[in-house]
Amino acid sequence: MTNGPEIRRFNGIEDMSEAAAGLIVARTGEKAANGKPFSLALSGGNTPRRLYQLLASDAFSAQLPWQQIHLFQVDERCVPPDHSLSNFRMIREELLDRVPAAKSGFHRMEAERPDLDQTARDYANELAHILQPAPGQVPRLDLVLLGMGNDGHTASLFPASKAPAEMKLWVMPNYVEKFHMNRMTLTFPVLNAAAELVFLVAGADKAETIQKVLHPGQGAPQFPAQGICPANGQVRWYLDADAARLI
Ligand code: 6PG
Repeated sequence: MTNGPEIRRFNGIEDMSEAAAGLIVARTGEKAANGKPFSLALSGGNTPRRLYQLLASDAFSAQLPWQQIHLFQVDERCVPPDHSLSNFRMIREELLDRVPAAKSGFHRMEAERPDLDQTARDYANELAHILQPAPGQVPRLDLVLLGMGNDGHTASLFPASKAPAEMKLWVMPNYVEKFHMNRMTLTFPVLNAAAELVFLVAGADKAETIQKVLHPGQGAPQFPAQGICPANGQVRWYLDADAARLI
């Protein structure tokens, strides 16, 4: 990792999301100034919903070079894209339907397809096609937005599931026992190749896990979120006051 993780505390979801939107405007502007496309990977769940609404709002949308932004998914539930659990559905409702230019650069994880291994291979090929890694290298995303569950999972890398141990595939299906459901997820090789990863974590129910993840005791168990340790990248934790209560 370039430097240790940056930790920023916010009053609540609103100022946390505004700060994240400002960061995305700054980063995409820097890259666009060099005429290069920007790759941004979006998590699902609830926390980033407000951020996606802000990115689609007049305050931020007009500042974003959407034609030069490729949007990827960090993970997806293996449900139809219009299902209430679909991450794509949330991203579409909060962002893509409001910003047509964003929709044209969006790369959907087609996790509803029956052959999940082929779906994972196809998405890995799409990452390679857009990000053009050097031979034998891992595609390098410019910015990855992550969340964290109170079990310490991130993306769909859940404790006691197969995907956290995967060190070769870039994308893979992952059965999650606690939900009795298959997911599709980026793996640590791709996540840890990213230039920048920003966790957005809010809520008192996450405070204990945040304390364990950010201040692990000797011999403490490793949570998947602690596996986010890019060799040449920066990790940022954006926390609301409730989630940061114990650190
Ligand atoms: C998902 C997400 C997942 C999410 C965490 C936190 O598919 O659910 O990608 O990794 O970031 O579960 O979810 P909340 O933001 O809803 O707490």
